[in-house]
Amino acid sequence: MDQKYVFRLAELNDCERIFEIRNKPEIRLTSLNQDEIEFCNHEKWFKATLKNPLSHLFVIDISKIIGVIRFDINGPEATISVYIDPHYHQQGFGSLIYREGEKWLENNYMFIEEIIAEILPRNLSSKIFFAKMGFVEKEKSVWRKKIYPRDTGGTFAAK
Ligand SMILES: CC(C)(COP(=O)(O)OP(=O)(O)OC[C@H]1O[C@@H](n2cnc3c(N)ncnc32)[C@H](O)[C@@H]1OP(=O)(O)O)[C@@H](O)C(=O)NCCC(=O)NCCS
Repeated sequence: MDQKYVFRLAELNDCERIFEIRNKPEIRLTSLNQDEIEFCNHEKWFKATLKNPLSHLFVIDISKIIGVIRFDINGPEATISVYIDPHYHQQGFGSLIYREGEKWLENNYMFIEEIIAEILPRNLSSKIFFAKMGFVEKEKSVWRKKIYPRDTGGTFAAK
């Protein structure tokens, strides 16, 4: 992809734009909670997430934010949540933000073994997407990808 982009941690100033994307009907349809979200609730959630040391929220920015990815760390597992502004779907941005996110996770959490995605059964495009990213549905609606041991060419070789 030739598009210039920045992959970075979300900041307080991003609160409104992320709210705008998260509330789009196409994104709500793929969430467990499909109700329209009120800004004050989003803002509370957003501030708490930025403060939470086990939650890592990133954006992809191409002069404006067009996608969001979050990892919630739980022992050796990280649960992922990802969404791209529907206006930019199927242009490679989902793969891009996922690859950047996985790289960040590998560099910053050496002990994480698996990434977990919870995908609603009706969310066909997301199933295809996660399968392409290397995930496998292990239990109903729970998709997993092993990222440890890493393919590091021998860094962890036994003595
Ligand atoms: C899932 C999602 C992040 C994919 O983002 P995207 O930017 O459209 O994905 P990409 O363009 O990088 O597509 C990567 C691959 O996924 C597949 N894919 C993505 N959307 C698809 C669709 N609507 N139908 C079929 N395949 C699709 C394609 O196989 C594509 O590979 P290709 O380029 O070789 O054809 C996006 O659809 C989204 O935001 N969905 C709503 C939120 C969501 O469901 N999140 C997942 C649960 S946490």
